[in-house]
Amino acid sequence: MAGIPHEHYEPRTRFEKWLHERLPIVALIHATMTIPTPKNLNWWWIWGIVLAFCLVLQIATGVVLAMHYTPHVDLAFASVEHIMRDVNSGWALRYVHANGGSLFFLAVYIHIFRGLYYGSYKSPREVTWIIGILIYLAMMATAFMGYVLPWGQMSFWAATVITGLFGAIPGIGPDIQTWLLGGPSVDNATLNRFFSLHYLLPFIIAALVVVHIWAFHTTGNSNPTGVEVRRKDLATAKKDTVSFWPYYVIKDLFALVLILVVFAAVVGFMPNYLGHPDNYIEANPMVTPAHIVPEWYFLPFYAILRAITFDFIFEAKFLGVLAMFGSLIVLALAPWLDTSRVRSGRYRPVFKWWFRLLVLDFIVLMWCGGQPPEGVVPVISLLGTIYWFAYFLIILPLLGVLERPLPEPATIEEDFDAHYPPSGSADASRSSVQPAE
Ligand code: HEM
Repeated sequence: MAGIPHEHYEPRTRFEKWLHERLPIVALIHATMTIPTPKNLNWWWIWGIVLAFCLVLQIATGVVLAMHYTPHVDLAFASVEHIMRDVNSGWALRYVHANGGSLFFLAVYIHIFRGLYYGSYKSPREVTWIIGILIYLAMMATAFMGYVLPWGQMSFWAATVITGLFGAIPGIGPDIQTWLLGGPSVDNATLNRFFSLHYLLPFIIAALVVVHIWAFHTTGNSNPTGVEVRRKDLATAKKDTVSFWPYYVIKDLFALVLILVVFAAVVGFMPNYLGHPDNYIEANPMVTPAHIVPEWYFLPFYAILRAITFDFIFEAKFLGVLAMFGSLIVLALAPWLDTSRVRSGRYRPVFKWWFRLLVLDFIVLMWCGGQPPEGVVPVISLLGTIYWFAYFLIILPLLGVLERPLPEPATIEEDFDAHYPPSGSADASRSSVQPAE
């Protein structure tokens, strides 16, 4: 697919020309900032910038936290209390970092479900999607290892439970588990390697984000209609797009400020709301907490992990591990499982309902993951897990064949003008109609 036609950077001053011949970095920045972006992007498209902001925030606060933190089983818990009490603004750094993780995951879930609804993952954006999945996996690993660092009860027992999953792999499992822990159980070697990797992984995420952005800059952004930008020539492309700077930069920053107001309120007024009180008790390998729960953003996958309670060829525990990794694999394969020729869910009347059910399923699984596995919870978890797999493996492939989509607009311009009639047209006097989705 040819790139979207756009204006090129021309070095003007003598210095610009000198630099351009040696390192065309200004041209690169110019191309990135002025990239032609579909002019009909709605508010679901702001979350990529929120994610980029979260990554920078986590790295910045994390680097300073690491200056005062001690990765040793005898000192880690106390060093976190030292950060909270003695380090100047240490409490703020820690609360911003801990809640920043939550904002990061909230943003990534909205970003992923946006992609699933508008079919952003479809050809030619499969690589953007796959890189996104890799980022998400790296985010999960980073968050999991970060949670172990304060060395509270939940840190210790979450590490024990999750690394124990690898032990369930038949044959090689126990060896993998020992290798991950650096010994027979969660101990100082585990804390040290988790600290090292927790520091390293965000930089790998940053590198992946660069590739992610490179990929969608190559294909161009998708948009709520799923109709591609016309690429015949510059004049036609301009009818469907606006420059990223200043239009989307201002829009995204506006959204970011609103989100940060809420974020600041959470950090200031309820910083421990999303945490677990047991993590304020120092890790004790001799006392198991009554109910081990991960952070909220892991709960849906934790529910899938616990959903299988019966042995079938393999042990239930190993089947749970397979289901959990499988649920991420089917998500990664969405570009190939979705057979519909129509990209956006806006024009797919039947798909819409299954998609809404998927969102509900995700929320129900999240609830299940936070409950003790008793009563109806295992049954609901199993049903939720079945729906997750059915959505990707059965519903998406079948809908492409069975569903009759609605007509799509011919161009992005047409969709835009339908919602925001051009000034001077007969429709312009009507109040501007907002896009429904
Ligand atoms: C640190 C994490 C991430 C960052 C910083 C990031 C950043 C971005 C940005 C800035 C965009 C452009 C428009 C927008 O805001 O939607 C984008 C698009 C996209 N992202 Fe991400 N992303 C991240 C994670 C993910 C993940 C986990 C997935 C999916 C599994 C994903 C899938 C996509 C797709 C498919 C698009 C293309 C959408 C389009 O063309 O309209 N991203 N991303």
